[in-house]
Amino acid sequence: MTDPEVNDSASAKLYERAKRSLPGGVSRNTVLRSPHPLYADHAAGCRVTDIEGIERIDFANNMASLIHGHAHPAIVEAVNEQLARGSAFTLATEIEVDYAELMCGRSSSFEQIRFVNSGTEAVMGAVKAARAFTGRSKIAKIEGAYHGLYDFAEVSQTSKPENWGDSDRPESVPVAYGTPSTVLEQVVVIPFNDPDTAISILDEHRGDIACVLVDPMPHRVGLVPADTEFVQRLREWTESDGALLVFDEVISFRTEFGGFQDRFHVKPDLTALGKMIGGGFPVGAIAGSRDVMQVMNPLTETVRFPHSGTFSANPITMTAGLTAMSLYDEAAVQRLNSLALRAVEGIREAIGRTGEPACVTGSGSMFRVHLKAQPPRNHREAFTAPEETARLATLVDHLFDEGFLMINTCSATLSTAMGESEIDALIAAVDTGLRKLSS
Ligand SMILES: Cc1ncc(COP(=O)(O)O)c(C=O)c1O
Repeated sequence: MTDPEVNDSASAKLYERAKRSLPGGVSRNTVLRSPHPLYADHAAGCRVTDIEGIERIDFANNMASLIHGHAHPAIVEAVNEQLARGSAFTLATEIEVDYAELMCGRSSSFEQIRFVNSGTEAVMGAVKAARAFTGRSKIAKIEGAYHGLYDFAEVSQTSKPENWGDSDRPESVPVAYGTPSTVLEQVVVIPFNDPDTAISILDEHRGDIACVLVDPMPHRVGLVPADTEFVQRLREWTESDGALLVFDEVISFRTEFGGFQDRFHVKPDLTALGKMIGGGFPVGAIAGSRDVMQVMNPLTETVRFPHSGTFSANPITMTAGLTAMSLYDEAAVQRLNSLALRAVEGIREAIGRTGEPACVTGSGSMFRVHLKAQPPRNHREAFTAPEETARLATLVDHLFDEGFLMINTCSATLSTAMGESEIDALIAAVDTGLRKLSS
């Protein structure tokens, strides 16, 4: 950050206070910036104003969760009305039924749905449902993919050259200290978009795997879409083995009306959802085939996966989610995808003009700028060594100073509150940022 007044700023002072009561001064690591986080004051549409009074265009959208930007009038009105009637009950509500129907109408793989409170919880619930359905305990996951904080799902997410092992047999690397070794033994790590290697690894665990967990466009693995062949081969393998195919569409669901899965001719058995489907409020959901979802049915003789949650399907989240997803119709999805395409093409042209070794990945309404000459194809290629990380931070800081909030990997997720002028402004700022890097 370049502001010389920074240490006297209201944010700097607030951060000093925050460090006394919050570890590292923050409640989640993603908001940390050097020398201090930004503190939001208010926001509307695609613009956020911090407590210094500085307004920026928001391309981070609370880590891809605000599909309509901030304080969308229809969501504010609907939530306010519900808030006045009560925010949570030890009773079911009609709104959860309305929302379940709407979501099940969006994808033929969603025959039933259960709402939870976060993407982490959705992935955990999907894995537990798969275990309950198959009677098996192991899971397979993509090397480097982020699926939230569940012990099993986070394995290998931060693996690096020192510990990731042979690319033909990636190691199960823990994220948190103290992760039980039994967890690592239960997680089979497969490389992204390499079907031959993935299948040969899976074959070594035939009969033991409850599910193969796949994010069809994993952000940390480079924000590269899964190849159709890769997904099809995983579908064939899971079917032949009696394992389930679970998609994590917590982020990628925005890509098409029925999620990224619309692009493949295969259906997952279960899908974990989150982020944008909460309309700006904490959310997660597990959706899938009626057969598999029955493991959570409390009316069956043996409930194989008893499932509950105090705030699950709370009427505030349900109201906001229902409003947001009703507004995110086919036309809105296509409009947002076109805007993203404009951004990607514009940034690619800027890269060409500046000659900086860089590339853009992504699909739908998300993209990521890499300071690499070639688009990465997997976790190992997406990995950023310290020098590249520092250069990327310079670019993200430049964009920040120019009035753009990006996700710190230099990724952007669009909101329907944006138009072409915001996209063109971002392209121009990326151009000047790349020139700064070359100079
Ligand atoms: C693909 C994916 N899955 C799961 C999660 C976890 O979601 P939450 O942060 O709501 O727990 C995230 C969060 O970034 C994610 O990107």
